[in-house]
Amino acid sequence: MNYQEAYKKLEKYGQLHVLKYYEELGEEEREALLTQIGQTDFDVLSLCEKKETLNPRGKIEPIAVMQLPEIEEKKEEYTKTGLEAIRAGKVGAVLLAGGMGTRLGSDAPKGVYNIGLTKDVFIFQRLIENLMDVVDQAGAWVPLYVMTSDKNHDATVSFFEEKKFFGYNADYVTFFMQDMAPASDYTGKVYMEAKNKMSTSPNGNGGWFLSMKKWGVADKIRQAGVEWLNVFAVDNVLQRIADPCFVGATIATGSAVGEKVVAKNAPDEKVGAVCLEDGRPSIVEYYDMTPELMEAKAEDGKPAYHFGVILNYLFRVKDLEEIVARKLPLHIVEKKIPYLDEKGELVKPEEPNGYKFEQLVLDMIHELDSCLPYEVVRNKEFAPIKNKTGIDSVESARELCKENGIIL
Ligand code: UTP
Repeated sequence: MNYQEAYKKLEKYGQLHVLKYYEELGEEEREALLTQIGQTDFDVLSLCEKKETLNPRGKIEPIAVMQLPEIEEKKEEYTKTGLEAIRAGKVGAVLLAGGMGTRLGSDAPKGVYNIGLTKDVFIFQRLIENLMDVVDQAGAWVPLYVMTSDKNHDATVSFFEEKKFFGYNADYVTFFMQDMAPASDYTGKVYMEAKNKMSTSPNGNGGWFLSMKKWGVADKIRQAGVEWLNVFAVDNVLQRIADPCFVGATIATGSAVGEKVVAKNAPDEKVGAVCLEDGRPSIVEYYDMTPELMEAKAEDGKPAYHFGVILNYLFRVKDLEEIVARKLPLHIVEKKIPYLDEKGELVKPEEPNGYKFEQLVLDMIHELDSCLPYEVVRNKEFAPIKNKTGIDSVESARELCKENGIIL
């Protein structure tokens, strides 16, 4: 894109301030800025104005959950089915590690965080150890696809290499990068993070399959005969990955997607609750939980929206092409965004100062006809690390690891 084209595009979206330092830039810096302007979708920024009415919710109703007693009863059968699928190479795992982890407050990728006390125990290491349990049980490697972003790709790849993939077979690990989206102030004006660079943020965890397609990974998956992808978050250090019983239950019930859920510890806990929305499987985010939904009772008298997702889903590959062809909703999220101030100096704010624009993996569920919410024991499988201290923190995850006999 040349200067005139860039000017026109920015003018159309009311973003001409992006060229404020253009005259000061060298040839290469100018080139980089013009390229970024050419590649950026500024349409998303106009959504700020419609923030409140962006994603209206449909009619929310309870959904049936496969609970622990039922799973226990069929454990053997499901585990057998799951192990067969894993041994046949039909199950892959997708680690969503493109997030910025701003709440944890480290500049490094979240998975590099060391939660060890007497020895090194990195978050990535915990996840690989969990996956290795299944590899040992099945006697087969599970292909692992790791999603990174522009902000942490090199650091993530070199960390895995330096640590020799924590004993995992590197031939079965593939990295791919997600896309970025512009980040703006509260009025929708994109921030600058350098004189020749607009502030960007990873575009959410919902774009993972589109990014796999872009990077040619989706083709490889199909060629390899992978039929199921277990997508999981980087920050839950206790989660079971490619869990044979979960895989088996999803296959045996003919579900298009399986989702691991835990019993919520309070009606207003900050996890998305599984439900039906306009008769289709869905997830109602914690900030959309009205007092009525929190108090609603199911037919058996128990809370109707008692089970929350832990960002561990098993998708059927053949459905993913269709899902990504439709547009997922866009969410506007308040974040701390580094920016250049009036003097052109970089500021790293202590408090949220603007918006980033994200698609979320949980919105993919609503695109599918059938879904199996599958309960897991909370204290055994849910130890998310979002913050340094307090709820969902390094501290709480350490306690849960200890409870489960993991030496830190
Ligand atoms: P979170 O919602 O906790 O976001 O991500 P985050 O960016 O990691 O952390 P904060 O909010 O800045 O503190 C849940 C999961 O989705 C991944 C994260 O890496 C994590 O595994 N994720 C999130 C992505 O892969 N890409 C994104 O753009 C956002």
